[in-house]
Amino acid sequence: MNAPVAIVTGGAGALGKAIASVLLGDGFRVALLDRQGTEHAAAALGGEALPVQADVTDDESVRAAVEQVNRTWGRVDALVNNAGIEPAHSLADVAPDTWRATLEVNLTGPALMIKHCVPCWRRQGGGRVVSIGSRVWLGGGWTPAYSASKAGLVGLTRAACQELGPLGVTVNIVAPSFMRTPFNTQKAGDGLLAEHAGRFAAASPLGRLVEPADVANAVAFLVSDRAAAITGEVLHVAAGTQLAPAVH
Ligand SMILES: NC(=O)c1ccc[n+]([C@@H]2O[C@H](COP(=O)([O-])OP(=O)(O)OC[C@H]3O[C@@H](n4cnc5c(N)ncnc54)[C@H](O)[C@@H]3O)[C@@H](O)[C@H]2O)c1
Repeated sequence: MNAPVAIVTGGAGALGKAIASVLLGDGFRVALLDRQGTEHAAAALGGEALPVQADVTDDESVRAAVEQVNRTWGRVDALVNNAGIEPAHSLADVAPDTWRATLEVNLTGPALMIKHCVPCWRRQGGGRVVSIGSRVWLGGGWTPAYSASKAGLVGLTRAACQELGPLGVTVNIVAPSFMRTPFNTQKAGDGLLAEHAGRFAAASPLGRLVEPADVANAVAFLVSDRAAAITGEVLHVAAGTQLAPAVH
């Protein structure tokens, strides 16, 4: 049998590359879907990594991207919705475009990706969806649109799990806490970042931060046959900080 195929959105980002690397190691062929940097990421990863340039917020772009993967490898077994943004704002000053952009990438994107993969799963008799949420869906966070988008992702996941279950598709979320990736380093200066990292490590019963590899391993489990009976679930990979009342 041919190797299974995964699409990882935001595949040129820090977590996307970590997820792709673990899936490649597990024998997947991996399409790295991103709006930028896909060629470079695929070359760096090596193996059966396919660069797919696309914008997850654009229905036609997503359709063409899934078609490209189908044309190349003929199937899609696992979809990992990992692309995400968190532009700075507060509710007192949020620009409508900032609010919409956050919801578009973090919530509409996963819905469009699922939509265009459904025909593959219908044809193949099953599939896997894992979306990258965030600990902030439980409450708090630095930016309200981001928290709302990640809470909305839980609603999307539960609805998709009901609709796609009869097709043999499982739909789950992996919800990390703060990681030291460019996602955060671009937002905060070194001092602020060290302060955040210290706060998260202190709030963790394990006394540690989460690394991209921790999240990637959880994704690899949920797309594997070992997780065949798990659907509609939120798996926190947060070093226990999901139990802390407020870390931000
Ligand atoms: N880093 C953290 O602390 C943290 C914590 C919890 C959850 N997360 C989640 O993890 C995921 C990955 O984060 P990361 O730390 O790797 O960030 P990152 O910024 O390194 O990667 C995000 C990637 O998404 C891509 N992207 C953005 N908009 C896109 C679009 N419209 N179409 C296609 N691709 C697009 C970017 O180009 C980038 O490569 C996000 O969903 C984020 O919300 C991150």
